[in-house]
Amino acid sequence: MKRFLRTFLSATLAASLLVGCGESGGDKPAESTPTQAPANNDVKPADSGSTDDGGEVDGGGEVDPSVSEGMKVGVSMPTKDLQRWNQDGANMEKELIAAGYEVDLQYAANDVQQQLSQIENMIAGGCDVLVIAAIEGSSLGEALDMAKENEIPVIAYDRLLMNSDAVSYYATFDNYKVGTVQGTYVKEQLDLDNADGPFNIEFTAGDPGDNNAGYFFNGAYDVLKEYIESGKLVVVSGQKTFEEVATPTWATDKAQSRAENIIGSFYANTDIDVWLCSNDSTALGVENALANNYTGKYPIITGQDCDIENTKNMIAGKQSMSVFKDTRTLASQVVKMTGQILSGTTVDVNDTSTYNNGVITVPSFLCEPVFADANNYKEILIDSGYYTEDQLK
Ligand code: BGC
Repeated sequence: MKRFLRTFLSATLAASLLVGCGESGGDKPAESTPTQAPANNDVKPADSGSTDDGGEVDGGGEVDPSVSEGMKVGVSMPTKDLQRWNQDGANMEKELIAAGYEVDLQYAANDVQQQLSQIENMIAGGCDVLVIAAIEGSSLGEALDMAKENEIPVIAYDRLLMNSDAVSYYATFDNYKVGTVQGTYVKEQLDLDNADGPFNIEFTAGDPGDNNAGYFFNGAYDVLKEYIESGKLVVVSGQKTFEEVATPTWATDKAQSRAENIIGSFYANTDIDVWLCSNDSTALGVENALANNYTGKYPIITGQDCDIENTKNMIAGKQSMSVFKDTRTLASQVVKMTGQILSGTTVDVNDTSTYNNGVITVPSFLCEPVFADANNYKEILIDSGYYTEDQLK
């Protein structure tokens, strides 16, 4: 049965242009015309080509519930240290079980070797599909080769798996747009087109081993670049390349110590107006550093994920916004994709040109991020059932 399905799969998988959890209309992500997607194994670069038509919903991809019968899905998450991955893992497990799959969910404590061996165990344990959120996108080659040898389709979850042709699909949020949402928030808050300025700004970006981190940073920087070049925004530390502002493993303590150095060295006599942080774990580090070392006016601080601590800080006025990526939406999309792959039906993708992993362009489904702040968090986070009011007290 499984072998039949896999053979069937290799021969028939196709991807088509669909827009589901988010219409991608705008700032960057390319839409594409329907295209042949790589099958799980003999993966070839997907046709690229973009259109700006925003895509259309074709409603394809109805999956017969019997598809999940006897099927096991391996879900490999990077760490339990950050709230979001616990939520992603829990949502995936819940939804896969509800759809009738057996699930092998593992967290790898941010240790690449551990993630490698967990994935190898999933393969040895008979998983039929692998869903992987990599610690380091480029470090899982061995396990991906093994998946390919065993004809197991691989879905890159949230973070792209790099330098491998064994990646069948990618499901994520529109990473560049996450950055443009942050940059646009800053631009609007400071009214950069009309205000005189100058305003002081610092950047804190993510992990260089995570392919998403560059997209986030570039998205934000591209919005603010013209104001930096004109002198309306001043990066007082002078640190404005991704390499200079990156935070290994997205660690709060590393973001905090870099922020403490910057505050100590450059902000004894002047205020910081903006601290553009790519996500919430790094924003928390900056917020800790400011709380311990800074006496000036509190800056605009951006983030991403709407983690509980950060949402509390938003309510308390210590963080200005966070980009909300509803992990329930991503999990549902990936469960749907899994069913489509296993049944050999059309797999929903809405981008076949943006995410080249160094070897192939991986057909992707991009969900839409939105921003949350103290004004709209109730509607976005509480009314939607993401958090209860008590969790944010
Ligand atoms: C995710 C972010 C997350 C970061 C740190 C990124 O790959 O897209 O949502 O904040 O990793 O875990």
